[in-house]
Amino acid sequence: MRQLSTIADLRVFTSGAPRPLGLVPTMGALHAGHMALVAAAREECASVVATIFVNPAQFGPAEDLARYPRPLSEDLSMLEAAGVSAAFVPPVEEMFPAGSATTVHVGAPARPLEGEARPGHFDGVATVVAKLLLQVGPERAYFGQKDAQQLAVVRRLVADLDIPVSIVAVPTVREADGLAVSTRNAYLSPEQRAAAPAVYRALAAARDRFRIGAGVPAGAGTQVRAQLEAGCRERLAREPLIDAIDYVAVVDPETMAPWAGPGAAMLAVAVRMGGVRLIDNVLLE
Ligand code: PAJ
Repeated sequence: MRQLSTIADLRVFTSGAPRPLGLVPTMGALHAGHMALVAAAREECASVVATIFVNPAQFGPAEDLARYPRPLSEDLSMLEAAGVSAAFVPPVEEMFPAGSATTVHVGAPARPLEGEARPGHFDGVATVVAKLLLQVGPERAYFGQKDAQQLAVVRRLVADLDIPVSIVAVPTVREADGLAVSTRNAYLSPEQRAAAPAVYRALAAARDRFRIGAGVPAGAGTQVRAQLEAGCRERLAREPLIDAIDYVAVVDPETMAPWAGPGAAMLAVAVRMGGVRLIDNVLLE
């Protein structure tokens, strides 16, 4: 596996890499969720570039940029063992040299939910993802369903800027008890960790209810949405270690607009346990 830190070296590598080329963008501290993206890319692509870049542009001033874990040598060993062709690990100055003044701003799908809770977050994500796509020039790029709004924002960005890449969504990898695997799970206390699967249980219960009620009558979408949101919120509120519910929302997974049926629907939640923010979602089908 090649380890690259400059865009110039990356371009030399990609110009000779067997195609199709797959891109897996990450912020490192790799876990089973990231490795599922790598595995999907390995299956479908002749070469895979994984990137590790803790993107300062997507962290708010009160967020965990400074304490975000950076176990680089473990990350590189995991990527190498998984058969990645090259790891691109640029320093901040390589991605955002002095004088950088361009931001990619995605509209509608970036506005609600995480966009509301984390102002500026998706501008940072969209800018760095656009840069990585232009730097690497992959045929395919892999993103987790875990961050469903990010996925929607990236799909919108690629469509709007006519970037010739297929965006591939990889299903959420979960712990045995249902908790979505996440770097931030490590910040939970043992008690909070034990309570955290309540988030997925609340989502799964709503999904099961949706299945049982399959066949939403015409015009009843808004009412079904309200019922699902209320039921999920009520379950979350029963877990005493959940300190706050940022949102519970049934949305169109492409536009992130409130779902009014018929068609694809997604239930997304964000909660806080102490200082830790957990997000998760399920597709309703
Ligand atoms: P990061 O949080 O490191 O996640 C990298 C990718 O792994 C994202 O596409 C995310 O959705 C996916 N992922 C994380 N946990 C997952 C899980 N449990 N199951 C499946 N996929 C999972 O997301 C980012 O980094 C950044 O915003 C980035 C896209 C790299 C831009 O900076």
